[in-house]
Amino acid sequence: FEWIDARDTIAPEGHPQRSTISHRGRSSVPVANSNTDGKDVPEFEPFGLMPRGPPPLKEFLDIWDVNMLNQPNEINKRNHHTHLYATENLIVRRGQEFQIRITFDRPYKPTQDHFLVEFVIGSYPQVSKGTYIPLRVDEELSGSWRGRVVQTMDNMVTVGITPAPDCIVGRFRMYVAVITPYGIRRTQKDPSRDVYILFNPWSPADTVFLNDEAERDECILNESGIIFYGEASDISVRPWNYGQFEYGVLDACLQVMDRATMPLVNRGDAVKVARMASAMMNSKDDDGVLVGNWTGDYFYGVAPTSWTGSVEILLDYANSNQGVCYAQCWVYAGVFNTFLRCLGIPARVVSNFYSAHDNDGNLRTDIILDENGKVDKERTKDSIWNYHCWNECYMARTDLPQGFGGWQVVDATPQETSDGLYRCGPASVHAIKHGQVCYPFDAPFIFAEVNSDVVFYQRNKNGTLEPVRVNKSHVGRMVLTKDIGKESARDITSQYKFAEDTEEERTVLQKAEEFGCSRIQSTLPPADVEMKASVQDVMVGNDFQLSLEFRNQSDSHRTTNVYISGNVVYYTGVTSSEFILKTQNVTLKPFELVIVDVKSQEYLRKLVDQANLHFIITGRVDESGQIITAMHVVSLHTPKLSIKVSGTARVSEEMLVTVEFTNPFKFNLEDVSVRMEGPGLMLAKKKQYSLIPTNSTLTWTESFKPRRSGQAWLMASLDCQALRQVYGHLEVNIQP
Ligand SMILES: *[C@@H]1O[C@H](CO)[C@@H](O)[C@H](O)[C@H]1NC(C)=O
Ligand SMILES: *[C@@H]1O[C@H](CO)[C@@H](O)[C@H](O)[C@H]1NC(C)=O
Repeated sequence: FEWIDARDTIAPEGHPQRSTISHRGRSSVPVANSNTDGKDVPEFEPFGLMPRGPPPLKEFLDIWDVNMLNQPNEINKRNHHTHLYATENLIVRRGQEFQIRITFDRPYKPTQDHFLVEFVIGSYPQVSKGTYIPLRVDEELSGSWRGRVVQTMDNMVTVGITPAPDCIVGRFRMYVAVITPYGIRRTQKDPSRDVYILFNPWSPADTVFLNDEAERDECILNESGIIFYGEASDISVRPWNYGQFEYGVLDACLQVMDRATMPLVNRGDAVKVARMASAMMNSKDDDGVLVGNWTGDYFYGVAPTSWTGSVEILLDYANSNQGVCYAQCWVYAGVFNTFLRCLGIPARVVSNFYSAHDNDGNLRTDIILDENGKVDKERTKDSIWNYHCWNECYMARTDLPQGFGGWQVVDATPQETSDGLYRCGPASVHAIKHGQVCYPFDAPFIFAEVNSDVVFYQRNKNGTLEPVRVNKSHVGRMVLTKDIGKESARDITSQYKFAEDTEEERTVLQKAEEFGCSRIQSTLPPADVEMKASVQDVMVGNDFQLSLEFRNQSDSHRTTNVYISGNVVYYTGVTSSEFILKTQNVTLKPFELVIVDVKSQEYLRKLVDQANLHFIITGRVDESGQIITAMHVVSLHTPKLSIKVSGTARVSEEMLVTVEFTNPFKFNLEDVSVRMEGPGLMLAKKKQYSLIPTNSTLTWTESFKPRRSGQAWLMASLDCQALRQVYGHLEVNIQP
């Protein structure tokens, strides 16, 4: 018997006439860009000339059984932190050994018997592309995949396999093949032996290595999350079920890459996978997951505020040929987070409060005032989003100079195109903080989102614009993410920028400017009158008061006429309608407080989507001609949903959950949809109510059986045209 190096013979590079597992000549090999199965490989693959009749294979090993040791309580899934996936198949992480057990017809004799464990992904598998891996168990391959015999017992051989730490991530078919002098005899194709190989944040050799157990628990293994929204001084939370381990989600994530026709060879590169996904989460210009809609009319889909998690969205996408309707930023970020965590890339959703989105791609947002100091709505085009959500994913940046690894911004909300597609990132957070915005991808855009100035211009009689006021601290006020292992917010603003008015901040802005982020150089005279606006927390439907505080710092008489403009705005800062416009004459004592009463009937009928009111107060000081400005966003609070459970909180035992809501308003709620779900507890359920009259209570009870033990959340939402963003969540602890 002469040893035949199977790595050359099974999938000969550019070998024209051999089996289906090889390709038909180098030049004609199409790019493999789908993880769906290719053609089956032959069960018997002869070498050279065939002897007449079937070959006598008796003396060679016969494979009786291959056990993938894929049960959640067996060695592999525990060791690889994949036991939570509701997928039967073996799921492992690259760069780390897993085991399979092969039973032959007789004991294995290492010196005499030769067999291979083969891994194949996609069509046209090739060794050189990493899409075909024939693994010998008696030979160590350095830097690549490794195989070894762990144990032999009777007819059984336990084989240890370590995928290369940079191998392709996806679903591999697996075969065991016995080598005989006549050819190769391998196991039949069996989808239950397919192995999913994922990124490995637990392995120092992987580019996504994250050296912190608590952070890995949060950013890989936690399925329940919260996403912050509202206003910087008055934060609200919405629960989100990432559900990365739910049945079908992993396959849907692989399908996202297939529908992007992402070449398999690139699917081991976390940077490329994250960038591809930032384009694919939105349906703009590709066959992506979510259709955005900011119109306030969601008749042909689900209102963005109504979703409670990613699972329904991803499964819907996987089962249909089109994008899922509708999304806004937190929906994109929520689903993107599921995608990243599911494939094993550490990820979190962050919210940036007062996120600039300017139309000119510079570091400022322009607000144009007319001669009297009143906002000119026609000419003011830029918007400041009350908040904007994006994702951070954790990885080394071997494509950049040292020091830019770690958290990277990726953003799936379509705002601007990058190299012709709607996508954004990954951009190093460290680079953004230090103004090193020249490195890919899209750092200048994100830098502007957290660093822009708000510049007020006054239009003179002759039509020229003159900068009159600059607010340097409004934009990028605060960046928040969910705290590790807790429900509270973690302030990560300092990871994006240095403190206001420090030497470091000035250096960074200078540096960013050198790299093309331009900033207005305006040295405006300090104002001798200052104005500040504030409002106490307000519930939708209540009257409230807007307080204006004036500080007169001059030593002489000051009077001013102020314009108070209250607008209903989308969270994107786009104005829907103005509901209040008042002018008020103020004579300034050293400290003057002006109270403006706002009645609910003034705004209630005009509310859109997220119930945000935006006040812009501007004026001109009569004596000095100086312009004074103040801005304030009021994020109206909504009532909460109450969730209660009853029954024994134990795996597979039936429990009941009740969602309750009382309409506290003086008006009826119509066409109300209510949703609830919980990872490992229940898939999304939905109920529609045509009417909830004033003061009446809705009660909805459903039963469920927990799929697994541990802590998990039940999350619910209530949504209708007149009232959006009503949420509730409840933590339950399931006993094994
Ligand atoms: C938003 O949704 C409405 C109603 O479902 C639809 O008529 C409109 O065309 C959508 N807008 C966009 C930009 O998709
Ligand atoms: C403004 O303040 C200055 C001192 O702070 C004071 O002398 C002056 O009288 C004030 N103006 C008015 C109108 O009170």
